[in-house]
Amino acid sequence: TRPLKVALLGCGVVGSEVARIMTTHTHDLTARIGAPVELAGIAVRRPDRVRQGVPAELITTDATALVKRGDIDVVVEVIGGIEPVRTLITTAFEHGASVVSANKALLAADGATLHAAAVKAGVDLYYEAAVAGAIPLIRPLRESLAGDKVNRVLGIVNGTTNFILDRMDSTGAGYSEALDEATALGYAEADPTADVEGFDAAAKAAILAGIAFHTRVTIGDVHREGLTEVTAADIASAKRMGCTVKLLAICDRSADGKSVTARVHPAMIPLSHPLASVREAYNAVFVEADAAGQLMFYGPGAGGSPTASAVLGDLVAACRNKLAGTTGAGESAYTRLPVSPMGEV
Ligand code: HSE
Repeated sequence: TRPLKVALLGCGVVGSEVARIMTTHTHDLTARIGAPVELAGIAVRRPDRVRQGVPAELITTDATALVKRGDIDVVVEVIGGIEPVRTLITTAFEHGASVVSANKALLAADGATLHAAAVKAGVDLYYEAAVAGAIPLIRPLRESLAGDKVNRVLGIVNGTTNFILDRMDSTGAGYSEALDEATALGYAEADPTADVEGFDAAAKAAILAGIAFHTRVTIGDVHREGLTEVTAADIASAKRMGCTVKLLAICDRSADGKSVTARVHPAMIPLSHPLASVREAYNAVFVEADAAGQLMFYGPGAGGSPTASAVLGDLVAACRNKLAGTTGAGESAYTRLPVSPMGEV
């Protein structure tokens, strides 16, 4: 069988880990896929910053030329942000490549349109890594639960804020002290706005709600409150009531099934609830479905290796489909349920 060709867009923390696993686990990947898989090019903005061990001969700064080559089977996008990535992905589709993306911002901005473009081009779009790192969530919702009816998705989908709240809870620290610690340990970014104001969790909520309820939900549909207003006194009073505070993403199908809601905000939860024991930067998500009942997904929601794990799983799936001449996991028809930010409480 012919080798499958993969183009990697972006080679930061996640991308360099994807490249490393692809070049060191070639035997296993070939066995999983049923054909050899070959890294054909790596597009980066700053070649001087590429980490050691990444094959230098594959590096290019021309991402557009790479996705237009015409012989690429799968494009793996780990750049992030909306443009130029949206254009690169649609160009990849037009040139017959399936796409594996870790890009929550793009998928939360307009995932439905990208899906439609993939379906039209007869290729795949997979993005397990866009939500909760290594934790399988997108594929269970799209595939394992496709015959069930999901009514609620609820959980902790941002590791940085969970780390901050966990520190506030366990040490009595105030918000800014806990944020400083999260920054020093490398959890929070230099500009923590996306995490602490809830934008990151809102993007993930939009993606999860869209897939769970088979409808179009964008980040603008999500009611969002961050945790910057949560004080040490709030945490202490929650404690006195046998509770802890978590930043939750809550996606619901309305009781009549005619609309959906998605929101992100700090919430008090009883210590007896399984989400209360999610510590440090871990993520955990509950899914409630008619037939399945309640499922819980738990694990590391960020970081180079966990995110690369999700990317490689998608890569194997996309490669298998390419070999079989088929596409998988595509939602052929989205319904258009109205989305309101807050459901009935
Ligand atoms: N900033 C995110 C988090 C990274 O803290 O969870 C993973 O999306």
